[in-house]
Amino acid sequence: MNPVTLLENLFVRKAEFDIFPVTMDDCHDMSLLHAERFYRGWDESEFHSLMNQPTAFGYAARPNNGISSLGGFVLGREAAGESEILTIAVSGRYPRQGLGWRLMLAALRDMRGRGAETMFLEVDEGNAAAQGLYRKLGFRIVAERRGYYDLGNGRKSTALVMRLDLR
Ligand SMILES: CC(C)(COP(=O)(O)OP(=O)(O)OC[C@H]1O[C@@H](n2cnc3c(N)ncnc32)[C@H](O)[C@@H]1OP(=O)(O)O)[C@@H](O)C(=O)NCCC(=O)NCCS
Repeated sequence: MNPVTLLENLFVRKAEFDIFPVTMDDCHDMSLLHAERFYRGWDESEFHSLMNQPTAFGYAARPNNGISSLGGFVLGREAAGESEILTIAVSGRYPRQGLGWRLMLAALRDMRGRGAETMFLEVDEGNAAAQGLYRKLGFRIVAERRGYYDLGNGRKSTALVMRLDLR
């Protein structure tokens, strides 16, 4: 356990998280968390560009102890009744504590409210955690994209395209 986590566990109220819409101010923290969880992270400017798109939306899990960093976030996009999840990441410090689930529910509710009829996403065929989350929400595989993800060292992997009907 790293020293900061150890100190937090010993002396600081354990972080609990509330879910809020993301703002431009979250771009820096989102880029750090993205880099922690993905082989190719997105830098802060990529998050700024995404957030500037009028069709983009997102939710962040913010700590209510005022000390811990972002617990997780989800970003998506909606147009003409179709929505998609662009990315979701939960900090490796809070695995399997329901943050991914809560973030996805916030995104789904938002998209239903905007009138979206379907939601799509792509997931690496080797990503059991994310597939578990999406299946539990009712997503089903509708297509495969071979060689879609670059894993480094010339290795590629297949993306599964998953879909959920929102109506
Ligand atoms: C995928 C990810 C967002 C899940 O977040 P999380 O907060 O740990 O997930 P939750 O605690 O909300 O789990 C909800 C459900 O997802 C499934 N799940 C989560 N982690 C799992 C794991 N390691 N193995 C199998 N299923 C898992 C389970 O069905 C779980 O429900 P349960 O705990 O009641 O069994 C997180 O692991 C992550 O950020 N991974 C790295 C980034 C990534 O892969 N993003 C997705 C790209 S498509």
